[in-house]
Amino acid sequence: MMNQKMHNLTEEMNTLLANSIPNSNLGTDLEESMSYSLNAGGKRIRPVLLLLTLEMLEGDKSKGLATATALEMIHTYSLIHDDLPAMDDDDYRRGKLTNHKVYGEWKAILAGDALLTKAFDLIANDQSLNSDIKVRLLQRLSFASGHLGMVGGQTLDMQSESQQVNLTTLEQIHHAKTGALLKFAVMAAVDIAQPNENIASLLETYSEHLGLMFQIKDDLLDIYGDEQKLGKAVGSDINNDKSTYVSLLGIEGAEEKLAQHKTEAYECLKQLSSEYDTQYLDAIVKLFSERES
Ligand code: IPE
Ligand code: IPE
Ligand code: MG
Ligand code: MG
Ligand code: MG
Repeated sequence: MMNQKMHNLTEEMNTLLANSIPNSNLGTDLEESMSYSLNAGGKRIRPVLLLLTLEMLEGDKSKGLATATALEMIHTYSLIHDDLPAMDDDDYRRGKLTNHKVYGEWKAILAGDALLTKAFDLIANDQSLNSDIKVRLLQRLSFASGHLGMVGGQTLDMQSESQQVNLTTLEQIHHAKTGALLKFAVMAAVDIAQPNENIASLLETYSEHLGLMFQIKDDLLDIYGDEQKLGKAVGSDINNDKSTYVSLLGIEGAEEKLAQHKTEAYECLKQLSSEYDTQYLDAIVKLFSERES
């Protein structure tokens, strides 16, 4: 399902990520714990999306690499914390035992904290971007990761366990906990390549539909996915009595919502296609609607 271009970018990100955490001489295995989760083999879809958007906008790929690495670090930290006993209490992630199962809870918490912090360090020290763009990216990334973005969404997600929430709230949860970082992927490329406002606004709308698609599919895969392919257990949402698209709308209703957002994402790309080659962003929409992992 992944095309050659995506495959190559994924490999490039894997190499960058594998070399992104230098060992310290502190005499702890904190870096080992950070690297364990970072290099456990995620899909790298957020950094790849950033780089594909940058390429579409005819931006320079080398200007996106540090930010793409930073984004994957924040995403990985969010997964380490998401899996903790205090949150979703999951034992498998990316086909391996979760971080806390291997290193214990306190170190999993600290490995997450350190990955989050390292992400900002990477962007701040990126020599390929000017200071104005770096400040813009740092602002955007803190917004996307913090209480108005991913962390806020995770809070609402936890608070909504065993609650009857309406579709508006559920959309808010998905928009924040998952949509925010995916939106960052697209909009970071906009910050770097600086297309005109109309293009930026179409890409923003595109990224919002992608975010909802991604989490709706995640909710569906938690019901009918294959644990082997996913690298994580299915049924986690039911075990935790989560509010999801499936718990609210059923499988068919969730599939319908997924299809609606897919249509709207394609609509944005259609408008962009008079100016840009949208083939790779089209492929992302297809991947998000058909993925099995
Ligand atoms: C899982 O993200 C968490 C969600 C936001 C749904 P991914 O499905 O991208 O996980 P990895 O990075 O491939 O492990
Ligand atoms: C997590 O959503 C989103 C994050 C910000 C980590 P889920 O809890 O549904 O993600 P999975 O299913 O454990 O990957
Ligand atoms: Mg969760
Ligand atoms: Mg979870
Ligand atoms: Mg899930």
